[in-house]
Amino acid sequence: MTKKILILPGDGIGPEITAEAVKILDACRESGLDAEREEGLVGGAGYDAAGHPLPESTLAKAKAADAILLGAVGGPKWDTLEDLSKRPEKGLLGLRKNLNLFANLRPALLYPQLAEASTLKPEVVSGLDIMIVRELTGGIYFGQPRGIEQRDGENGKERVGFNTYVYSESEIERIGRVAFEMARKRGKKLCSVDKANVLEVTILWREVMNRLAAEYPDVELSHMYVDNAAMQLVRAPKQFDVVVTGNMFGDILSDAAAMLTGSIGMLPSASLNEKQQGMYEPCHGSAPDIAGQGLANPLATILSVAMMLRYSLGEPALADRIERAVGKVLDQGLRTADIAYPGTRQVSTREMGDAVLAAFAES
Ligand code: IPM
Ligand code: MG
Repeated sequence: MTKKILILPGDGIGPEITAEAVKILDACRESGLDAEREEGLVGGAGYDAAGHPLPESTLAKAKAADAILLGAVGGPKWDTLEDLSKRPEKGLLGLRKNLNLFANLRPALLYPQLAEASTLKPEVVSGLDIMIVRELTGGIYFGQPRGIEQRDGENGKERVGFNTYVYSESEIERIGRVAFEMARKRGKKLCSVDKANVLEVTILWREVMNRLAAEYPDVELSHMYVDNAAMQLVRAPKQFDVVVTGNMFGDILSDAAAMLTGSIGMLPSASLNEKQQGMYEPCHGSAPDIAGQGLANPLATILSVAMMLRYSLGEPALADRIERAVGKVLDQGLRTADIAYPGTRQVSTREMGDAVLAAFAES
């Protein structure tokens, strides 16, 4: 059956990088992928066109799609919107929540050609291959109550901001299973990251992970406090195989892990629900400061297409071909600004996309 793919370019560099990824997607369609694609508006683009970061029409298209490719959302133009529910980021969070995309896979894989591009010593990062499994539809991002309100304090009335960090056992269990299964397919090591020395919610998190471990005797489970995990990621990152953690810790740790690989511009991600319907996006943001200048790295988005083929479209061979094509252009010494260093050739967003396309066509 023909698969449906929704393309949501979004804001900032989003349109430039998705344009390059769509070229590769179309090349896959020419190579036998039975899929059709359509576009939609999200984030600031959705707000500008329809008054909402997740317009009804976009949500309807997203629900009907087998997979979604999203560029990035947000920018200074919308940062001053008083109504927080209209901010671009709410478009992204709304998609995650409405489609129940609870499992966020963020691989931090170092391409050997980029060992020099990392801010860490090559020997610390070479061979790095971590998979961060981040819970994406719960935790403090979505917990109620939340808000900013006037309250009576010792010095009279003042404004108070609050959020709620909450996880139910079933939410912890389902993300735990995804992570254990992932570890089983990889190096069989799972590190669960929490703050169980302070937060009750993560005491429960740890308990549930320990309970699940009995069902996965072939996987070695360890626990780490999030502050230590942040330190270990930059001290000795190769100790990690699969990391599982909640929404906010995962947000932070995945940015840190991304930098180990040379640039956050290299990291794709997949957000899946129980039906393997997925949204695929680069881990980086909309980078409004470099938008429209051809400086953005399209590789994270192109690699997100590979993840889409692997996890939602059942086309692992095409996914491999894309990943090999990316390896080939890196071998050729082509680099966008974020990963360029002396001895390499700096290319624009479009030149990088075209080079991957050429390498893909040859393979
Ligand atoms: C991410 C981003 C988002 C998040 C923002 C844009 C809402 O940082 O996908 O990591 O915090 O989840
Ligand atoms: Mg983030």
